[in-house]
Amino acid sequence: MSITDVESVLLPEERALLGKEFSVATGLPPRLYLDPDVYEAEKERIFRRQWMPVFHQTSLPDVGDYRVVDMWGESFIFVRAEDGNLRAFHNICRHRGAKLAVDSGNCKRLRCPYHAWTYDLQGHLTGAPAMAHLVRDGQTTLREVTVGTFLGFVFINDDGNAPPLSEKWAGLAEVLAPWVAVSDQLSQTYELHFPGQWNWKLSYENGIEGYHVLGSHLESAGDLIPGHLVYTDITEFEEWTGYYHPFSEGRNIRDTTGGSIDLENLPDWIDNQYRFYQGWPVTIFAVQPEAVLMAFPIPGATPGEVDFVWSSVALKASKDLPNWEAYKAEQMAFANTIQPEDSFPCETMWANLRSPAFKTGPYAKQETCVYQFDQWYLAQMGA
Ligand code: FES
Ligand SMILES: [Fe+2]
Repeated sequence: MSITDVESVLLPEERALLGKEFSVATGLPPRLYLDPDVYEAEKERIFRRQWMPVFHQTSLPDVGDYRVVDMWGESFIFVRAEDGNLRAFHNICRHRGAKLAVDSGNCKRLRCPYHAWTYDLQGHLTGAPAMAHLVRDGQTTLREVTVGTFLGFVFINDDGNAPPLSEKWAGLAEVLAPWVAVSDQLSQTYELHFPGQWNWKLSYENGIEGYHVLGSHLESAGDLIPGHLVYTDITEFEEWTGYYHPFSEGRNIRDTTGGSIDLENLPDWIDNQYRFYQGWPVTIFAVQPEAVLMAFPIPGATPGEVDFVWSSVALKASKDLPNWEAYKAEQMAFANTIQPEDSFPCETMWANLRSPAFKTGPYAKQETCVYQFDQWYLAQMGA
């Protein structure tokens, strides 16, 4: 029996968590992080059904640029095709299933390293040694995956049935209007990867609350954005939510290097608080006057593997400024300071999830978005 045949993959006590009031709710039970069967269900019910982020579109600027991304034990190859569109395919050769590539680069054709079948950038078979009839047939193509973008960030929807991102995050696009308005002028400042040996939800839940600034980031960020001040005013959280970090008196996150250009029509709150918006199931947008940082976990091949990615974008024109490199260095230094501080809790929670002594506790008010995510997650898992 496949997972889709059963009504719910949740145990009765897990199902009972759905709809629990915030004040009496507790975090997700360990089984939902550890159990390989739960992970298989997540692949089917979440990763393949939802929009999953991969990178910013400007990381594949030219026709023929390709890049492989491995997620949840599957491999996808992204290609900038001749028509300028970005296409995504399962990285599986139609002959015997070898991977077409494991790296990134630029090519005229995708050529399978095994028996040298070749495909054009649209995924059509264009060469098959000693089997030319297959090419003449025109029937053989790579299996294409639906691609979407938001703020120029690229997402895939494997099953092809998800509503468009513009619809899913219509409300979020309104909130982020100044950034959305210049989507096609944004280009990548950096992309950093922080792989970890723990479950993707630990990373994501960590990234969607500001409470832990009181512990993990006290020295690095506690002065700027005191953890106890975090709040949200979003109670409707079907497809996205957000939390706000008020700045300490007199502080803000304006760039001081002079190496970037602020956007126009910025909202009033931009100098009062650092806002983080979350789009389910894995995306976090941190909003700055000159930039948007998208942070997200890429779930690994097993429940205990994750790659946490920080990808920041700014206006392309910033790159012509003399201080651009200084700006970039400062932004990367921030990421390289903050994210490693998030490893300790994830690593140790992952270890402790196995202990019979562990019982998950209540949510702090500053963790409202974690509660919201957990509720959304339980609903997806068929509660
Ligand atoms: S598996 Fe790719 S050509 Fe044979
Ligand atoms: Fe953190």
